[in-house]
Amino acid sequence: MRNLTEETATEAVLEKLEGTEDPRLKAVMTSLIKHLHGFIREIEPTEEEWMAGIRFLTEVGQKCDDVRQEFILLSDVLGVTILVDSINHRVSEGLTETSVLGPFYVDGAPLLSPPVDIAGATEGTPLIVSGRVRDPDGAPIAGALLDVWQTAPNGLYDVQDSDQPAFNLRGRMRTDADGGYEFRTVLPVSYPIATDGPVGRMLEAVGRHPYRPAHVHFIVSAEGFAPVTTQLFVEGDPYIDSDAVFGVKDTLVVPFGESDDPTLAERWGLVPPVRTVAYDFGLKRQA
Ligand code: BEZ
Ligand code: FE
Repeated sequence: MRNLTEETATEAVLEKLEGTEDPRLKAVMTSLIKHLHGFIREIEPTEEEWMAGIRFLTEVGQKCDDVRQEFILLSDVLGVTILVDSINHRVSEGLTETSVLGPFYVDGAPLLSPPVDIAGATEGTPLIVSGRVRDPDGAPIAGALLDVWQTAPNGLYDVQDSDQPAFNLRGRMRTDADGGYEFRTVLPVSYPIATDGPVGRMLEAVGRHPYRPAHVHFIVSAEGFAPVTTQLFVEGDPYIDSDAVFGVKDTLVVPFGESDDPTLAERWGLVPPVRTVAYDFGLKRQA
């Protein structure tokens, strides 16, 4: 325990874990110490650099409050959130892949009945989103719950924008007897994550932009199936291959096309062509 050196420091700290009763905690702490020491050995920081790192983490913590979570944002931009997500949601081919929840989910959005319109008075290009929720065999799931949310065309969620009513561009809906859903919204846009904190400064320092490609968020759930937190991304978006939080997966990039179908347009009081996107969700059975 005395005379710790560069050579003996890691072993000495690891030995201190001998009394840890919880085996999972012991495994986590062992790995943390090994990797943290490995990082320091690789970087060989000056004392000034180490203090700059401590100051950065302190500022990340100080930026957090009830609505702002700078540590999660840090985890997002370092790819840790999507790594944890991928490890915890390994899905088989054909089932819907997951993506990051993000900080703007609000529990308790209104449960809407058809015709479901989450856009209200929001100005923007009308968009009809439709599809089915299916089980792993492709059979439709009736009564599945979709919880959806997105930004307005100004790139802001209702909770960031006092000009939007509460729960604007949010809603929950259930699938019909054929597992189908359909709702009206507006075309989503790409938008920047919050850059007015230490994470924004870090992105700038390493020459990264803060944008997320245009997307609509979903949490899809049904009794007996594992809920899926995911997003649908607009094919062709300029940021599709450089999402600031690494949330894009090929299977979630979909064409937001146009339909000339007069029945669809009439159903929604629109004039063709109408912007549309179709996507079928595939849910995994609950383990
Ligand atoms: C979002 O898509 O809402 C989001 C995700 C991660 C960080 C910031 C925003
Ligand atoms: Fe988002």
